Amino acid sequence: MQLKSSTAIAAYAVILLQLINWTTARRGFGPGEQDWNYVEVRKGAHLFYWLHYTTANVSSFYERPLAIWFKGGYASTGSGYFEYVGPIDIEGQPRASNWMQHMNVLFIDNPVGTGFSYVESFGEFAKNDTQNALDMVTLMAHFLRSHPEFQRVPLHIISESYGGKMSPEFALELYRAQQRGEVQCQLKSVVVGNPFTSPVDNVLAYAPFLLQHGIIDHDAYSKISRAAAKFEHWVKFGNAKEAVQQYSKIDEMIEEIAGNIYFHNIQRRAHVDNVFTYGVNQTVGDFVVNNVTKTLNLTHMPRWEARNVTALIELTPGMFKPSVNFVTRLLDETPIRMVVYSGTMDLIAPTPGTVNWIDQMQWGSKKSYVDATRRPFLVDGFLEGYEKQGGNFSMFWVLRAGHLVHQDNPAAMAYILREITNYG
Ligand SMILES: *[C@@H]1O[C@H](CO)[C@@H](O)[C@H](O)[C@H]1NC(C)=O
Ligand SMILES: *[C@@H]1O[C@H](CO)[C@@H](O)[C@H](O)[C@H]1NC(C)=O
Ligand SMILES: *[C@@H]1O[C@H](CO)[C@@H](O)[C@H](O)[C@H]1NC(C)=O
Ligand SMILES: *[C@@H]1O[C@H](CO)[C@@H](O)[C@H](O)[C@H]1NC(C)=O
Ligand SMILES: *[C@@H]1O[C@H](CO)[C@@H](O)[C@H](O)[C@H]1NC(C)=O
Ligand SMILES: *[C@@H]1O[C@H](CO)[C@@H](O)[C@H](O)[C@H]1NC(C)=O
Ligand SMILES: *[C@@H]1O[C@H](CO)[C@@H](O)[C@H](O)[C@H]1NC(C)=O
Repeated sequence: MQLKSSTAIAAYAVILLQLINWTTARRGFGPGEQDWNYVEVRKGAHLFYWLHYTTANVSSFYERPLAIWFKGGYASTGSGYFEYVGPIDIEGQPRASNWMQHMNVLFIDNPVGTGFSYVESFGEFAKNDTQNALDMVTLMAHFLRSHPEFQRVPLHIISESYGGKMSPEFALELYRAQQRGEVQCQLKSVVVGNPFTSPVDNVLAYAPFLLQHGIIDHDAYSKISRAAAKFEHWVKFGNAKEAVQQYSKIDEMIEEIAGNIYFHNIQRRAHVDNVFTYGVNQTVGDFVVNNVTKTLNLTHMPRWEARNVTALIELTPGMFKPSVNFVTRLLDETPIRMVVYSGTMDLIAPTPGTVNWIDQMQWGSKKSYVDATRRPFLVDGFLEGYEKQGGNFSMFWVLRAGHLVHQDNPAAMAYILREITNYG
C-alpha cells in the first residue's frame, strides 16, 4: 500500500487502532467494552476472567489503571459484578456508582470451581492458597500476553473478605514472576477490604465488638469469648476440622443470642423473616445461567455457582491460617503498597480484629505508619471515615459500612479507589 501524505498515514493508523481495539475488546453483557476467556492454568483446571474496560471519557483505555477484583472463594463475575461493583444489576438497572467509571476492572472467578471456572476432575481443585496464587499468576501471564497494552498500565489487586487472605500471597508470587521475567506488569498496590488476613483475630474480636455495640450482655460475652478461645486453640494446634466446627458453632451461638442479626452489617434493619444468604443468592445464580452464559457464549457451562462447596472444602486445612506473613514480606521485600480498608459495622471481619493484627505486625518501616497522623476523610463535605498512611501501609476506616463497603458506602469506596490508584 502506498501512503501519500501524513494525513493518510494518520487515517491508516486510526483504522489500524480501531482494528486492534476490535480484536481485543468485545461487546459482552451490559454496558462498555469487554473481553473474557478461559486459561487452562494446570492440566484440567480452567480459570475464567472477564475484563471490563473503563467507561470513563478517555482517548485510550490505557490511561486508566487496571484493577483485578475478587472476593475469595466466591465467583467474582456474579457476586461482585452484578451485586455491587459493576455498572448494572441483575434487572439491567444502571448502578450510579460503579468501578468501571474510574478504571479497567478484571474479574477472575477463583479458586477453580467457582463461577465459570471449572476443573475436569476433582483432583484439580486447588488444595491451598499457594496453589490458587500460582494459578492466578499463570492466568495473569496469559492475560498480559494477550493484552500487552496492560503490561505498562498500573496494576492494583483489590479484594475483600477471604480474598484479603489470598491476595497478599498472590501479589508476592506475581511480583516474583515479574522479577524472573515471566510476567510483564506494573503492580502498584494490594488492597484488602474487611479481610480474613488473620481469622483468629477476627473471631477473638466478636465478643468485645458485640458487647460494645450493645448487642450482647456480659453473660453472652463470656460464653462467646470462651468459644472463641477454643477456636484459637484448634487453629494454633492445626486441627482444621475442629476449627471449622467451632467456627460454625460460634456463628450459630451469635445468631441465637443476637436474634436475626445481619453479620455483614450489624446496623442493617433485619426483619424476622429475612433469610440472609451472604453472597450465595439463587436469584443471581439463575440470572447468570439464563442471561449471561448465552451472551458470553459459555453454553458449555450449564451451571454457575457463586461458591463451590467442594472447592472450598479442599481449602479447609489452611482456611484459618493467617496470611499476615505475606503482608510483611510484601512490605519488606517489594515496593508494593499495602492497603487495608474496613467497614466498621461488619461482624464477619470486625474492625477491632483487623486493627489488632496490624498493631502486632512488624515491618521495616512500621514506625512511619505508627507516627503518621490519623485524619478524617470527607466526601462532598460529609465525614465518611478516617485514614492513616505511612511506611507503604495505609488503613481506611469506613463509616456506615459493613463487610461489603462498596455496597454500603459507595462514596467512601470511590474516595479510597482514587487515593490508592490516583486515576484520572
Ligand atoms: C470527553 O472528553 C473530551 C475531551 O476532553 C470532551 O471534548 C468531550 O466533551 C467529553 N465528552 C463527554 C461526554 O464528557
Ligand atoms: C434476562 O432474561 C430474561 C428472560 O429472557 C429477560 O426477561 C430479562 O430482561 C433479562 N435481563 C437482563 C438484565 O438482561
Ligand atoms: C464444583 O465444581 C465441580 C468442577 O467444576 C463440579 O463438578 C461440581 O458440580 C461443582 N459443585 C459442587 C457442589 O461440587
Ligand atoms: C499446596 O498444594 C499443592 C498441591 O496442590 C502442594 O504441592 C503444595 O505442597 C501445597 N503447599 C503448601 C504450602 O501447603
Ligand atoms: C437476591 O438478589 C436479589 C437481586 O439483587 C434480591 O432482590 C434478593 O433480595 C436477594 N435474595 C436474598 C435472599 O438475599
Ligand atoms: C461459541 O463457542 C463455541 C465453542 O464452545 C464455538 O464453537 C462457537 O464458534 C462460539 N460462537 C461464537 C458466536 O463465538
Ligand atoms: C515504598 O514504595 C516505594 C514505591 O512505591 C518504594 O520506592 C519504597 O522503597 C518503598 N519503601 C519501603 C520502605 O519499602
